[in-house]
Amino acid sequence: MPVSLQEPWSIAGVAVPTRIVLAPMAGVSIQAFRRQGRRFGAGLVCSEMVSAAGIEHRNERTFGYLRVAGDEHPLAIQIFGAEPRAMADAARMVEAAGADIVDMNFGCPVRKVTKTGAGAHLMDDPELACRVVEAVATAVEVPVTVKMRRGVANGSRACLELGPRLVEAGAAALTLHPRSAQQMYTGEADHSVTAELVERVAVPVIASGDVTSREKALAVLEQTGAAAVMVARAAQGNPWALREIAEGESFEPTREEVAAELVVFIREAVRELGEQRAVGFLKKFYGWYLGHGRFPKPFKQELVQLKTTDEVVTRLFAAAPGAAPLVERLEAELPAAGEEILLDALPISLYGGG
Ligand SMILES: Cc1cc2nc3c(=O)[nH]c(=O)nc-3n(C[C@H](O)[C@H](O)[C@H](O)COP(=O)(O)O)c2cc1C
Repeated sequence: MPVSLQEPWSIAGVAVPTRIVLAPMAGVSIQAFRRQGRRFGAGLVCSEMVSAAGIEHRNERTFGYLRVAGDEHPLAIQIFGAEPRAMADAARMVEAAGADIVDMNFGCPVRKVTKTGAGAHLMDDPELACRVVEAVATAVEVPVTVKMRRGVANGSRACLELGPRLVEAGAAALTLHPRSAQQMYTGEADHSVTAELVERVAVPVIASGDVTSREKALAVLEQTGAAAVMVARAAQGNPWALREIAEGESFEPTREEVAAELVVFIREAVRELGEQRAVGFLKKFYGWYLGHGRFPKPFKQELVQLKTTDEVVTRLFAAAPGAAPLVERLEAELPAAGEEILLDALPISLYGGG
């Protein structure tokens, strides 16, 4: 039977309108990114990973605002940690912040995380992994899910043993990025492992890894029987990739459309992070948006040098004058900031989280 990317599905009662999930990405998946992802066809969006210890200790550096906007739902907020009680407390906080799903990170390969026993390290400690899931599932009313790698060492198949145990412990869905933690982002995601996991569990499985086009998305769904595909790197500065995957047509945007989306993204990021943090945060996005042959390379170099986001916006409007009315229209469609729930926790940014 042909698979459809537009078919609704659900995770323990949480309705997801399309089979495309926007991935959690540390240093990327801020609210502006998630809202944009929903507009471009993602049925479910995820926050970047939030440290349970950071929440517990109310660490000033890692705390700020964790905002959930009205137009993000359904939204999964991802937490990481290795201590069942701290994870349960963090889960209660993100549920209170308005998350529809609490996701747990069992895939982060970065040493800063694994050395604390969290992230991919939990794949080597199934007993603790199950206790974490059980504690979190007991703590909250919303469904809890887990995102894993295939295992820690190259060629590992640990996810196939662990997955069913996590479901028994209370996971309502599993996301698999079938690279080993050791592989980081090298080589290819081996979705034959995803297909095996799908066979072994009765909950929805989300396939993550190397989904960059509609063709690839359909092939992965067909090969694996997964409920949905997750898109990460392909959506960085390129929401049109989500639309292409969702709707099947090629959506190469005009310069005006690119500039308009980037201006809205910049303004949203400033609102969310404050000007000072946003200036640094946004630099990588300039290359992502303006690449793909959309703008000449020196233009990107010029934007990266500018000291304020106002200057960047001015340069973008000068380069694509037709973008201004598009920005006006986009901003009119976004719900006001007042509709958000504010919580004094900020996702901590650790690159390369899963
Ligand atoms: C910059 C970056 C940050 C990431 N941060 C997280 C994270 O916080 N949590 C997580 O579960 N996975 C994280 N990942 C992994 C992605 O969610 C995804 O599983 C992986 O990139 C494979 O998908 P892709 O081939 O579509 O990029 C991150 C990936 C990248 C590139």
